Amino acid sequence: MKKATCFSDKHYQIGKIDDKLYSSFTEHLGRCIYTGIYEPGHPDADEDGYRKDVMELVKELKVPVIRYPGGNFVSCYDWHDGIGPREKRPRRMDYAWASIETNEFGIDEFCRWAKKAGVEPMLAVNLGTGNIKDAGDLVEYCNHPGGTYWSDLRAKNGSPEPYNIKYWCLGNEMEGSWQAGHLSAEDYTKKALEAAKIMKWVDPSIKLVACGSSYEMLPTYMDWDRIMLTELYNQVDYLSTHNYTMNAGQGITNFLAAYKQLDNHIKNSARVIEYVKAKNHFNKDIKICLDEWNVWNFQDIKLDSLDELQGLTTFEMTSAGKWEIAPPILQEKYSLLDAIVVGGLGITLLNNADVVEIACLAQLVNVIAPITTIKNGGLFKQAIYHPFHMLSRYGHGITMKTIVDAPVYHCDLGDLPIVEPALIYNQESDEVRIFVLNCDREEEVEFAVSLQGYGNKKVKKHLVLDGNDYEIRNSYENQNHVVMKELEIKDENNLQIVLPKMSWNVIILS
Ligand code: AHR
Repeated sequence: MKKATCFSDKHYQIGKIDDKLYSSFTEHLGRCIYTGIYEPGHPDADEDGYRKDVMELVKELKVPVIRYPGGNFVSCYDWHDGIGPREKRPRRMDYAWASIETNEFGIDEFCRWAKKAGVEPMLAVNLGTGNIKDAGDLVEYCNHPGGTYWSDLRAKNGSPEPYNIKYWCLGNEMEGSWQAGHLSAEDYTKKALEAAKIMKWVDPSIKLVACGSSYEMLPTYMDWDRIMLTELYNQVDYLSTHNYTMNAGQGITNFLAAYKQLDNHIKNSARVIEYVKAKNHFNKDIKICLDEWNVWNFQDIKLDSLDELQGLTTFEMTSAGKWEIAPPILQEKYSLLDAIVVGGLGITLLNNADVVEIACLAQLVNVIAPITTIKNGGLFKQAIYHPFHMLSRYGHGITMKTIVDAPVYHCDLGDLPIVEPALIYNQESDEVRIFVLNCDREEEVEFAVSLQGYGNKKVKKHLVLDGNDYEIRNSYENQNHVVMKELEIKDENNLQIVLPKMSWNVIILS
């Protein structure tokens, strides 16, 4: 059996983990909103048409913040269409996803849903086809107490109390030509700066998220952030970036190493923040808002490699029959392997807790999501639900520095240790919680935990995500094909813990 050691001293911390690391995202895309979180007439819908079964899982996942309404959708969206009497709301062509938007569900429905679900809304404004006055008006509609046109209209529409939305995204992926109203870095900077100014005039307490680079293949990667942040640094609180991992032709080992690719990606965003701060002698710090991340295998279309994605429009990326209402697109069916990779990505989030404050698993329901609903029927948890659930349940406290001594495996990103841990200290429970990936595809690994300064710790729990068939998936009929398994602790004093081959593990020491 291969052996690995993970050493941690209680004096050496990476950073405090923000609860917002376990946030998510709902977009008007496919069946995320319609027949996802909202389905009037469904047997389990409440008086507002919200699916209670979905809400229960959102509560189980303890999702703190949910971003809305897009995504690419927001760059074509006029928020006015989604307020007021439903029968008067217009049907529009949604250019982003070649779908029909009925506008039955809008800002008010989302904020009311969020309140019931116990989540904090994060709104994105349209800086593509939208204008800066509309962005200011939306802040007024949501946050101003009353006595003005938009705030009084909110009250008339059923919400006298302001929603007090704190987090606001200044557009979505504005760097990309697939975005309706895509801008150059310079033009985005001007527009975002003016939008930020107006939005903060309306409510100075809001926190703003600026669009950063998300796609490493774009020639503007990182230059975009440098140009934009040089002007916007002092107006914003977060730099947004997105990261999707795809299993297409690169082989299992490289797919598994996605945690390292995400780590490089996050560190690049952190470096550009530091560069702009240093270059301009700025004082404050801004954090990263990874407001879209997940495994996304583009199962709607057949791809042999990631390169084939380049140049495709969002229309071509889906198998959408054009201009349907809530078409069943981007409904990924996640495998055990995908779930292990999502667990690995979660380890990277924890190990970057010093720079990433918000991270949104994209998305929440039906669209590249941990929850799948059946229209007019039940629901089930996709394989990726389980690692995300474990992260949101146990991933609280301080991420500690670790030193890992282990054999390496080879992948396109270089030689990496066969184990990838994130070690957390939870002060309230005095527990050490370890999330660890065993990347060895052939063998179990003996993982020796060497702790200094934590007192005497015993192994209390060992949960694992593994199996012999990495292609198994959950479905409505087979809901428990992929679940977390609890292993028997044979000797709680033995901190040399055996990690099954190619597995994602949660180990609790107390
Ligand atoms: O989450 C799906 C899409 O991925 C979002 O609309 C967009 O922001 C990203 O490209």
